[in-house]
Amino acid sequence: MRLIVVKDYDEMSKAAAKEMAAVVNSNPKAILGLATGGTPEGMYKELIRMNKAGEIDFKDVTSVNLDEYVGLGGDHPQSYRYFMNNHLLDHINIDKSRTFVPNGLAEDVNEEGRKYDQMIDDLGGIDMQLLGVGTNGHIAFNEPDGELVAGTHLTGLTKSTIESNSRYFDSEDDVPKTAVTMGLGQIMKSKKILLIASGENKAEAMKELFSGKISTSCPVTMLQMHKDVTVILDEAAASLLK
Ligand code: PGA
Repeated sequence: MRLIVVKDYDEMSKAAAKEMAAVVNSNPKAILGLATGGTPEGMYKELIRMNKAGEIDFKDVTSVNLDEYVGLGGDHPQSYRYFMNNHLLDHINIDKSRTFVPNGLAEDVNEEGRKYDQMIDDLGGIDMQLLGVGTNGHIAFNEPDGELVAGTHLTGLTKSTIESNSRYFDSEDDVPKTAVTMGLGQIMKSKKILLIASGENKAEAMKELFSGKISTSCPVTMLQMHKDVTVILDEAAASLLK
Protein backbone atom coordinates (compact mmCIF):
# COMPACT_ATOMS: atom_id res chain seq x y z
CA MET A 1 0.00 0.00 0.00
CA ARG A 2 1.19 3.47 -0.83
CA LEU A 3 0.67 5.81 2.14
CA ILE A 4 0.52 9.58 1.76
CA VAL A 5 0.12 11.67 4.92
CA VAL A 6 -0.81 15.33 4.51
CA LYS A 7 -1.50 18.12 6.97
CA ASP A 8 -5.26 18.46 6.96
CA TYR A 9 -8.61 17.76 5.28
CA ASP A 10 -8.05 20.37 2.60
CA GLU A 11 -4.72 18.89 1.53
CA MET A 12 -6.18 15.37 1.60
CA SER A 13 -9.00 16.50 -0.69
CA LYS A 14 -6.62 18.10 -3.19
CA ALA A 15 -4.20 15.15 -3.19
CA ALA A 16 -7.08 12.70 -3.72
CA ALA A 17 -8.54 14.76 -6.59
CA LYS A 18 -5.10 14.75 -8.22
CA GLU A 19 -4.92 10.93 -8.02
CA MET A 20 -8.31 10.56 -9.66
CA ALA A 21 -7.53 13.17 -12.31
CA ALA A 22 -4.38 11.23 -13.22
CA VAL A 23 -6.50 8.14 -13.91
CA VAL A 24 -8.96 10.06 -16.09
CA ASN A 25 -6.23 11.96 -17.91
CA SER A 26 -4.49 8.73 -18.85
CA ASN A 27 -7.78 7.00 -19.74
CA PRO A 28 -10.59 9.42 -20.74
CA LYS A 29 -13.08 6.51 -20.74
CA ALA A 30 -12.23 5.49 -17.17
CA ILE A 31 -14.77 3.72 -14.97
CA LEU A 32 -14.67 5.49 -11.60
CA GLY A 33 -16.01 3.94 -8.44
CA LEU A 34 -17.36 6.75 -6.27
CA ALA A 35 -18.27 7.07 -2.61
CA THR A 36 -20.50 9.24 -0.44
CA GLY A 37 -19.98 10.67 3.04
CA GLY A 38 -18.42 13.73 4.58
CA THR A 39 -14.90 12.66 3.62
CA PRO A 40 -15.09 12.97 -0.19
CA GLU A 41 -17.02 16.27 -0.24
CA GLY A 42 -13.85 18.39 -0.43
CA MET A 43 -12.35 16.15 -3.08
CA TYR A 44 -15.51 16.49 -5.19
CA LYS A 45 -15.35 20.28 -4.83
CA GLU A 46 -11.79 20.17 -6.12
CA LEU A 47 -12.79 17.91 -9.05
CA ILE A 48 -15.56 20.39 -9.97
CA ARG A 49 -13.02 23.22 -9.89
CA MET A 50 -10.58 21.23 -12.04
CA ASN A 51 -13.35 20.37 -14.51
CA LYS A 52 -14.33 24.02 -14.87
CA ALA A 53 -10.66 24.98 -15.26
CA GLY A 54 -10.24 22.43 -18.05
CA GLU A 55 -7.87 20.25 -15.99
CA ILE A 56 -10.08 17.15 -16.12
CA ASP A 57 -12.68 16.06 -18.66
CA PHE A 58 -15.52 13.74 -17.58
CA LYS A 59 -17.19 13.62 -21.02
CA ASP A 60 -16.48 9.92 -21.59
CA VAL A 61 -16.20 8.82 -17.96
CA THR A 62 -18.59 6.31 -16.35
CA SER A 63 -19.24 6.33 -12.59
CA VAL A 64 -20.52 3.58 -10.35
CA ASN A 65 -21.30 4.16 -6.69
CA LEU A 66 -20.74 1.86 -3.77
CA ASP A 67 -24.03 1.89 -1.95
CA GLU A 68 -27.51 3.25 -1.30
CA TYR A 69 -30.04 3.19 1.52
CA VAL A 70 -32.88 0.74 1.02
CA GLY A 71 -36.22 2.54 0.81
CA LEU A 72 -34.91 5.92 -0.35
CA GLY A 73 -35.48 7.01 -3.95
CA GLY A 74 -33.02 9.20 -5.82
CA ASP A 75 -35.06 12.34 -5.14
CA HIS A 76 -34.85 11.86 -1.36
CA PRO A 77 -32.35 14.43 -0.01
CA GLN A 78 -30.61 11.80 2.15
CA SER A 79 -30.28 9.24 -0.64
CA TYR A 80 -26.83 8.65 -2.03
CA ARG A 81 -28.02 9.31 -5.60
CA TYR A 82 -29.15 12.75 -4.44
CA PHE A 83 -25.82 13.29 -2.65
CA MET A 84 -23.84 12.40 -5.77
CA ASN A 85 -25.89 14.67 -8.04
CA ASN A 86 -25.67 17.50 -5.57
CA HIS A 87 -21.98 17.24 -4.66
CA LEU A 88 -20.50 16.27 -8.00
CA LEU A 89 -22.44 14.89 -10.95
CA ASP A 90 -24.68 17.93 -11.60
CA HIS A 91 -21.62 20.19 -11.68
CA ILE A 92 -19.29 18.39 -14.10
CA ASN A 93 -19.52 17.50 -17.79
CA ILE A 94 -20.31 13.82 -17.22
CA ASP A 95 -23.08 12.08 -19.20
CA LYS A 96 -25.62 11.48 -16.41
CA SER A 97 -26.94 8.37 -18.19
CA ARG A 98 -23.54 6.78 -17.48
CA THR A 99 -23.63 7.40 -13.72
CA PHE A 100 -24.82 4.47 -11.63
CA VAL A 101 -25.90 4.10 -8.01
CA PRO A 102 -27.42 0.85 -6.65
CA ASN A 103 -31.21 0.99 -6.63
CA GLY A 104 -32.52 1.28 -3.07
CA LEU A 105 -36.10 0.81 -4.24
CA ALA A 106 -35.59 -2.54 -6.00
CA GLU A 107 -38.15 -5.19 -5.12
CA ASP A 108 -35.45 -7.87 -4.87
CA VAL A 109 -32.33 -6.06 -3.70
CA ASN A 110 -30.02 -9.07 -3.93
CA GLU A 111 -31.14 -9.84 -7.49
CA GLU A 112 -30.63 -6.19 -8.41
CA GLY A 113 -27.19 -6.46 -6.79
CA ARG A 114 -26.27 -9.36 -9.05
CA LYS A 115 -27.27 -7.26 -12.06
CA TYR A 116 -25.19 -4.35 -10.74
CA ASP A 117 -22.10 -6.58 -10.46
CA GLN A 118 -22.72 -7.96 -13.94
CA MET A 119 -23.00 -4.44 -15.32
CA ILE A 120 -19.67 -3.48 -13.71
CA ASP A 121 -18.01 -6.60 -15.11
CA ASP A 122 -19.49 -5.87 -18.58
CA LEU A 123 -18.10 -2.34 -18.43
CA GLY A 124 -14.67 -3.91 -17.99
CA GLY A 125 -14.36 -3.36 -14.23
CA ILE A 126 -13.61 -0.32 -12.11
CA ASP A 127 -10.39 1.54 -12.95
CA MET A 128 -10.21 3.41 -9.66
CA GLN A 129 -12.46 2.85 -6.65
CA LEU A 130 -12.62 5.67 -4.11
CA LEU A 131 -13.28 4.59 -0.52
CA GLY A 132 -13.92 6.31 2.76
CA VAL A 133 -13.85 4.29 5.96
CA GLY A 134 -16.20 4.06 8.94
CA THR A 135 -14.96 4.65 12.46
CA ASN A 136 -15.68 0.92 12.95
CA GLY A 137 -13.56 -0.02 9.92
CA HIS A 138 -16.43 -0.56 7.49
CA ILE A 139 -15.96 0.14 3.81
CA ALA A 140 -19.08 1.04 1.86
CA PHE A 141 -21.71 -0.69 4.05
CA ASN A 142 -19.64 -3.81 4.63
CA GLU A 143 -19.94 -3.77 8.40
CA PRO A 144 -17.72 -5.68 10.85
CA ASP A 145 -19.04 -9.25 11.03
CA GLY A 146 -18.04 -12.89 11.24
CA GLU A 147 -18.19 -13.12 7.47
CA LEU A 148 -18.23 -10.70 4.55
CA VAL A 149 -20.20 -10.94 1.31
CA ALA A 150 -18.46 -10.80 -2.07
CA GLY A 151 -21.13 -9.34 -4.35
CA THR A 152 -23.49 -6.36 -4.18
CA HIS A 153 -26.07 -7.27 -1.56
CA LEU A 154 -28.66 -6.25 0.98
CA THR A 155 -27.22 -5.57 4.43
CA GLY A 156 -28.25 -4.34 7.87
CA LEU A 157 -26.48 -1.33 9.34
CA THR A 158 -24.75 -1.51 12.71
CA LYS A 159 -25.77 0.70 15.60
CA SER A 160 -22.56 2.72 15.33
CA THR A 161 -23.16 3.42 11.63
CA ILE A 162 -26.78 4.42 12.25
CA GLU A 163 -25.63 6.74 15.04
CA SER A 164 -22.88 8.22 12.94
CA ASN A 165 -25.12 8.80 9.90
CA SER A 166 -27.98 10.21 11.99
CA ARG A 167 -26.24 13.62 11.72
CA TYR A 168 -27.77 13.92 8.25
CA PHE A 169 -31.33 12.99 9.35
CA ASP A 170 -33.86 14.68 11.66
CA SER A 171 -33.49 11.85 14.16
CA GLU A 172 -31.79 8.48 14.56
CA ASP A 173 -35.16 6.80 13.96
CA ASP A 174 -35.25 8.25 10.46
CA VAL A 175 -32.00 6.54 9.38
CA PRO A 176 -32.79 3.50 7.22
CA LYS A 177 -31.77 0.27 8.93
CA THR A 178 -30.79 -1.53 5.74
CA ALA A 179 -28.82 -0.69 2.63
CA VAL A 180 -27.59 -2.16 -0.61
CA THR A 181 -23.81 -2.21 -0.83
CA MET A 182 -21.11 -3.37 -3.15
CA GLY A 183 -19.40 -6.34 -1.49
CA LEU A 184 -15.74 -6.87 -0.72
CA GLY A 185 -15.25 -9.18 -3.70
CA GLN A 186 -16.44 -6.56 -6.17
CA ILE A 187 -14.44 -3.79 -4.45
CA MET A 188 -11.27 -5.91 -4.52
CA LYS A 189 -11.68 -6.47 -8.27
CA SER A 190 -11.08 -2.73 -8.87
CA LYS A 191 -7.82 -2.09 -10.69
CA LYS A 192 -6.83 0.69 -8.28
CA ILE A 193 -8.17 1.65 -4.88
CA LEU A 194 -7.93 5.14 -3.37
CA LEU A 195 -8.78 5.31 0.33
CA ILE A 196 -9.13 8.67 2.05
CA ALA A 197 -9.62 9.43 5.74
CA SER A 198 -9.49 12.53 7.87
CA GLY A 199 -9.78 13.13 11.59
CA GLU A 200 -8.86 11.43 14.82
CA ASN A 201 -11.99 9.25 14.83
CA LYS A 202 -10.55 7.32 11.86
CA ALA A 203 -7.13 6.76 13.47
CA GLU A 204 -8.00 3.43 15.10
CA ALA A 205 -9.30 1.95 11.82
CA MET A 206 -6.13 3.17 10.07
CA LYS A 207 -3.99 1.54 12.74
CA GLU A 208 -5.80 -1.74 11.97
CA LEU A 209 -5.28 -1.24 8.23
CA PHE A 210 -1.51 -1.04 8.74
CA SER A 211 -1.38 -3.69 11.46
CA GLY A 212 -0.39 -6.51 9.12
CA LYS A 213 -3.44 -8.47 10.24
CA ILE A 214 -6.62 -9.11 8.28
CA SER A 215 -9.98 -9.60 9.95
CA THR A 216 -13.63 -9.50 8.91
CA SER A 217 -14.23 -7.66 12.19
CA CYS A 218 -12.44 -4.69 10.59
CA PRO A 219 -13.34 -4.89 6.87
CA VAL A 220 -10.88 -2.21 5.76
CA THR A 221 -8.01 -4.57 6.66
CA MET A 222 -8.93 -6.65 3.58
CA LEU A 223 -7.32 -3.96 1.44
CA GLN A 224 -3.93 -5.32 2.48
CA MET A 225 -4.56 -8.09 -0.05
CA HIS A 226 -5.00 -5.67 -2.97
CA LYS A 227 -1.95 -4.89 -5.09
CA ASP A 228 -2.65 -1.24 -5.96
CA VAL A 229 -3.96 0.75 -3.00
CA THR A 230 -3.19 4.39 -2.29
CA VAL A 231 -4.12 5.66 1.18
CA ILE A 232 -4.27 9.42 1.74
CA LEU A 233 -4.62 10.48 5.38
CA ASP A 234 -4.46 13.74 7.21
CA GLU A 235 -2.20 13.93 10.26
CA ALA A 236 -5.06 13.24 12.69
CA ALA A 237 -6.15 10.05 10.87
CA ALA A 238 -2.50 8.94 10.75
CA SER A 239 -1.82 9.78 14.40
CA LEU A 240 -1.75 6.16 15.62
CA LEU A 241 0.59 4.92 12.88
CA LYS A 242 4.18 4.24 13.93
P1 PGA B 1 -17.68 9.74 6.37
O1 PGA B 1 -18.17 8.25 6.22
O2 PGA B 1 -16.92 10.06 5.11
O3 PGA B 1 -18.93 10.55 6.50
O4 PGA B 1 -16.80 9.80 7.58
C1 PGA B 1 -17.30 7.30 5.74
C2 PGA B 1 -17.93 5.93 5.84
O5 PGA B 1 -18.75 5.71 6.75
O6 PGA B 1 -17.57 5.07 5.03
